[in-house]
Amino acid sequence: MQYNFDQVVSRRDTHCVKWDFSKKQCEGKYIIPMSIADMDFETVPEVKKAIIQRANQGIYGYTKVNEGYYESIMNWMMKRHSWELKKDWIVVSSGVVPAINNIIKAFTHPGDKVILQSPVYYPFYKAIVRNGCAIVDNPLKFVQGKYYMDFKDLEHKLKHPRVKLLILCSPHNPVGRVWTGEELRKLGEMCIKNNVLIVSDEIHSDLVYKNYKHIPLAAISNDIRENSIICTAPSKTFNLAGLQVSNIIIPKDKLRREYIIQLENAAALSINLFGMIACETAYKYGEGWLDQLIDYLYENKEVVKKYVGERIPKLKIIEPEGTYLLWIDCRELGMNGMELKDFMLTRAKIQFNEGFTFGKSGEGFERMNIACPRDVLREALGRIEEAVNNL
Ligand SMILES: Cc1ncc(COP(=O)(O)O)c(C=O)c1O
Repeated sequence: MQYNFDQVVSRRDTHCVKWDFSKKQCEGKYIIPMSIADMDFETVPEVKKAIIQRANQGIYGYTKVNEGYYESIMNWMMKRHSWELKKDWIVVSSGVVPAINNIIKAFTHPGDKVILQSPVYYPFYKAIVRNGCAIVDNPLKFVQGKYYMDFKDLEHKLKHPRVKLLILCSPHNPVGRVWTGEELRKLGEMCIKNNVLIVSDEIHSDLVYKNYKHIPLAAISNDIRENSIICTAPSKTFNLAGLQVSNIIIPKDKLRREYIIQLENAAALSINLFGMIACETAYKYGEGWLDQLIDYLYENKEVVKKYVGERIPKLKIIEPEGTYLLWIDCRELGMNGMELKDFMLTRAKIQFNEGFTFGKSGEGFERMNIACPRDVLREALGRIEEAVNNL
């Protein structure tokens, strides 16, 4: 079956964060939002159908997952990531961010330290600080247009006795790296050596471009598996973020028990009925849709690269290996973060995610969400070109 990702579906007046709750107009012109990480595409048709069918029944009481739910996750992880996981390892959550908050609560004490690798998804910072811990940054190295982990710096930082946790973003938002097996192994072994637990946020793991392969951290080795918590979700993959469903994989019994106690304390063990249905259905029937989506996103990425390379050469696209988020180096425009934000919003009339919100090293960068129909993408590129040329 062919899916039509070119179709423009209006999201205005649908309680949509991206289209309804950010600045909508400037000087009479609509702003194109290319910000928050969801997609302007309809989800898998089978998912829509299953939700409508269930909604038609009319009773929306307390809900619990059954065998079919777990099987759909296990089959998906095996099929897409060659990762064999056990049913018992899966703990449902209303989201990856709530899960990360609960993980920090469960495995740290106030005053402990948590490592992250900037520039990185900004809720990680908040989760660490709000739970009474201190952020230890192990910034990524930016070498000739590509980001790498800085293992030398990490080695030093892991040694601090109060470092208890490292939050890995794999694939990495916003820089788009799909970490190699070698990188993951090195990171995993260094953390084991220093008794630091790894939380691997793998929410973008299904969205990886050709020639790259996502490797779940827990699939690297048995030792690394026992020292990791893997956050997965169907939400980025199938555009289900509003349904609030994710699955946290904790292979080690002791860690899982401790995490579940924290969930009980926070009364956070229940699941949303429609999220549950969407998750199971998407993992069962969404593979063909996803393959076409990835091809479409790949083309979108190529369109942006070509256009920017030929017509807006002051901007530099960091080649993404995965995710539908493009990290764009705008430093040649010579603006600070706030000036750049204002320029893109008021002159180009595009809303991006500001690079500086991902950490200090993101200053002068913008994150562009390319999960939109190609006509919208082209319109946005034209606007950026005109604004830059008029500088
Ligand atoms: C790396 C990463 N983790 C987590 C989330 C959000 O997860 P959730 O909506 O399940 O809390 C996002 C959304 O953009 C993300 O990019």
